[in-house]
Amino acid sequence: MNQLRTITLTVNGMVREGRAEPRRLLVDFLREDLGLTGTHIGCEHGVCGTCTVMVNGETVRACLMLAVGADGTEIMTVEGLSSGEGLHPLQEAFREAQGLQCGFCTPGMLMIAYELLRENPSPSEAEIREAISANLCRCTGYQGIIEAVSLAAASHAVAKAR
Ligand code: FES
Ligand code: FES
Repeated sequence: MNQLRTITLTVNGMVREGRAEPRRLLVDFLREDLGLTGTHIGCEHGVCGTCTVMVNGETVRACLMLAVGADGTEIMTVEGLSSGEGLHPLQEAFREAQGLQCGFCTPGMLMIAYELLRENPSPSEAEIREAISANLCRCTGYQGIIEAVSLAAASHAVAKAR
């Protein structure tokens, strides 16, 4: 019996349609079916946060959501941050403040930081620490990430960009 179900999502502003088995993870659907490999897969257990995307404006771990559960939603992945004309201000800040090394955690960190600055454009260092504590980074020691988010906040560039 063919268990594939047709789903339709808006991803980074574009309507995308695909077919997924009921147990297919959203992260696999985004990466393998839609080719959006900017979202990474780490633990697949909801721990590391590298698969974080925005679903209907809220961060979600895409390894904990089924693709069929995302039917009809609006999704933003890391590819949706930039308008296509250069890097998004948050990405610029991560580059400038050395908020990444291997880059594996970076897509999820950017999504977390984006959500934080959208809700709180001038976070304290403690608030930045608390927000990014949801995600794991094995390279930077976190300091560069904290400085990158502070830099983006100080420029108010994120609020201007969206
Ligand atoms: S891969 Fe989703 S939280 Fe680690
Ligand atoms: S930069 Fe390598 S895991 Fe964060």
